[in-house]
Amino acid sequence: MIVIANDLKDLSRKAAAEFVRIANDSIEKKGKFVIALSGGSTPRALNAQLLQADLDWSKCEFFFGDERNVPPDHADSNFRMANETLLEPLRIAKEKIHRWKTELLKPNEVANDYESKVKDVKFDLVLLGMGADGHTASLFPGTEALKETKRNAVANWVPKLDAWRYTLTFPIINDAANVIFLVAGEDKAETLVSVIESEGPPDELPSRSVKPTNGELFWFLDEAAAKHLDKNQFAFRS
Ligand code: 6PG
Repeated sequence: MIVIANDLKDLSRKAAAEFVRIANDSIEKKGKFVIALSGGSTPRALNAQLLQADLDWSKCEFFFGDERNVPPDHADSNFRMANETLLEPLRIAKEKIHRWKTELLKPNEVANDYESKVKDVKFDLVLLGMGADGHTASLFPGTEALKETKRNAVANWVPKLDAWRYTLTFPIINDAANVIFLVAGEDKAETLVSVIESEGPPDELPSRSVKPTNGELFWFLDEAAAKHLDKNQFAFRS
């Protein structure tokens, strides 16, 4: 399902409504809602909308789709962004928040710790962003993590960043019941049309490989990001 919104605020409102629908459905059916939050800056606007949501937050378990190799209080930390804009304002209990323990010494220790947390997890929702290079989570073009078929959580060396990143892998992402991409901004329009409308080598545009096996895939886009899409070709919801 592709949803095109006027702008980032409208996109966030529409995505928040879908988030709440999925969450309430999971809570009604299973008594809980298990979600992987996205990093980057786009989710900030969504989080602001979620603070007004009518939802039993005590039933929600929070994981992270990826993390940078920085301490949890660092300005670049995805955990810190989510904590400041969503988890703390909602007073989410610490035991419901499962972050990557980036303070552990070695990258593989961080990844092994997170693998132990997510190895039996099936997400009700995975939130994702997309970079202009087609990366999602910390699955960057041409990196080793794209080839992972067994582990759910890995450390991924990203040459273009000259840095380690931590990321969920395609097996666990594609096992989710729902995946929502949030993509805004004209700088992503060219990549987006390639990701959605064409095929190609899997490691060229990693977002192409997000194909939930039995789950629903939603793209929440603003007009700017969606400008090159053929609006006759897909089921759209404005
Ligand atoms: C990260 C994210 C990454 C992000 C995209 C889009 O750690 O940076 O997980 O995959 O979602 O880079 O980022 P923006 O929302 O800032 O455009």
